[in-house]
Amino acid sequence: MLTLGIETSCDETACAVLEGKHTLRSSVVASSLRHHVRFGGVVPEIASRHHFVLLDRVLEEALRRARVRLKDIDLVAVTAGPGLIGALLVGVSFAKALAARLGVPLLGVNHLEAHLEANFIERERPAGPYVGLVVSGGHTVLVRYHRRRFRVLGETLDDAAGEAFDKVAKILGLGYPGGPEIDRLARRGNPHAVAFRAGVLAGSLDFSFSGIKTAVLYHVRRHGVSVKNRADLCASFERAVVDDLVRKTREACRRARVRALAAGGGVVANTLLRRRLEELAREQALDLYLSPFAYAIDNAAMIARAGAVRFREGRRSSLALGADPNLSWS
Ligand code: KG4
Ligand code: ZN
Repeated sequence: MLTLGIETSCDETACAVLEGKHTLRSSVVASSLRHHVRFGGVVPEIASRHHFVLLDRVLEEALRRARVRLKDIDLVAVTAGPGLIGALLVGVSFAKALAARLGVPLLGVNHLEAHLEANFIERERPAGPYVGLVVSGGHTVLVRYHRRRFRVLGETLDDAAGEAFDKVAKILGLGYPGGPEIDRLARRGNPHAVAFRAGVLAGSLDFSFSGIKTAVLYHVRRHGVSVKNRADLCASFERAVVDDLVRKTREACRRARVRALAAGGGVVANTLLRRRLEELAREQALDLYLSPFAYAIDNAAMIARAGAVRFREGRRSSLALGADPNLSWS
């Protein structure tokens, strides 16, 4: 069975072809990122227009690399949310038209669930329940998965982890997106130079990263930014965010009584976070699923994978499928 995955929730226009549940035949990602850079963040209207222009070509390229024809596709899976409404609508409309024309089933996929599914393309998913950590530009969430259902254990009350990286990078005069830049500079800085701390909410697994962003801003107003202290600020900020993510992930695994942990989303590309999650897994004897870099950032392989799996579980969408910017976990 061949599943076509389509992703347009933010600035990546992506299509992928998956055979069965594990054989990725192609994955093509085109990004409109460079058109947003001068605005310091993704501009929804610009993202939508680029999806509209790019989608057709990205699909053709995905089919060509997979060596399949459109008529060979058995299922169309598309991101239905969460994400930017205009951007989502382009993908959903395209997918609906395609499914109708081909006479094949359509399935709307949750983008955050798909970030976790990205881990199970190359490796079979854990047999028992697992904790999932999704850290992206728009979301920070801990969930427990068991018997086809997700339960949210904690989520961000304000800025997402990636968003905090992007905003702090801006304060430090670095480019957009800020995550990779901070990651690079932090490697040369002292993580204990400044005692930043992410929000602590007693007994809760929720996250808050807006206070730490303000703390960096005040620090910079008081002391300025130089080439020397910039690396220290990057390292100190990164350490504080990663400490908080890892501490709550450890607590989530303990409370949820799981033996497996899966992590996905753009921030999983972060060097320190990857290292610290690996240490956590070793120390707690957890089976760790860490998205490889190419599938941590937005892509359609994860959408195809999530679609193929849910389809086998009996889920279907009708041609009335809509885009939902706040789509919740199923
Ligand atoms: O999952 P993603 O590609 O898009 C969303 O669904 O939001 O995540 C993008 C986010 C951006 O905020 C970016 O700064 C962050 O992931 N990011 C990183 C790194 N690479 C990307 N954050 C920290 N360290 C990185 N190496
Ligand atoms: Zn994403």
